[in-house]
Amino acid sequence: MNYRQHLVTFEEHARSQAVRTEPQPLGGHLHRALIRSIQRFQAGEDGDGTGLIAAATRAGDPVYLAAVRLFVAEEQSHAARLANVLRYAGAAPISGHWTDTVFVLVRRGGGLRLELLTLMLAEVVALRYYRALRDGSGDAYVADVAARILADEKRHVPFHLDRLRQSFARTPLAGRVAAAGGWGVLMLGAVLVVALDHGSALRVLGVTRRRFIIDVLRLFRPMAASVFRQRATAAGQGLRPASGAIHSSGTAAAVRDLTSGSAGTKTATPW
Ligand SMILES: [Fe+2]
Ligand SMILES: [Fe+2]
Repeated sequence: MNYRQHLVTFEEHARSQAVRTEPQPLGGHLHRALIRSIQRFQAGEDGDGTGLIAAATRAGDPVYLAAVRLFVAEEQSHAARLANVLRYAGAAPISGHWTDTVFVLVRRGGGLRLELLTLMLAEVVALRYYRALRDGSGDAYVADVAARILADEKRHVPFHLDRLRQSFARTPLAGRVAAAGGWGVLMLGAVLVVALDHGSALRVLGVTRRRFIIDVLRLFRPMAASVFRQRATAAGQGLRPASGAIHSSGTAAAVRDLTSGSAGTKTATPW
């Protein structure tokens, strides 16, 4: 797998952000439940990526490592933008939240695969959350911040899926089935925790807990298929996704459709 194209995209985005002045308005009013929710997402976005960068370094691909470093910087920029939103609403960031501690403990020492499998849970939840924040806050500034973060998250998903697909390409069927099952259980657990923890804020944004859980699982299903439903070609020249699975560009298109909330797209949009 060549990550040059991902790196080029990350570099282009970094250049565009470098010349942008981030607005920092004050005097906004947000519901308390929404503020508490944004504080927790802000803390979650604020990691330094040490474990991921270390695992990517051990992988030995300097192009992939460079892309990972820019990915981590993008996530940190999300934390900075959410901190701006909190200041706008007269609130302050929090130092951490127990859900982030659990995420870090699950990932610790597990290598690049486990880093990415765990990270992807947060990415999928983020896709639905920032869409809800974009569409339901009723505040133009918050909607703009959420929309720009959402655009970044949509690029992150195919980047991680490409690496996971490569990582599991030569894993025997039994191993892939076990990994897929474990990943699905983790995804279900993660979305249940987030739905419970952020239920009040989601209600403010016009999304029920049930809707949020269903939407996240619908986003997750084709991603899991794209990682695990692959088989070697007859010629043995690399691997390809199985019929019905989504590959790199297809993943990006699916994520775009699944998170747009717009009707009339060619790919069936489940909500
Ligand atoms: Fe993020
Ligand atoms: Fe992300």
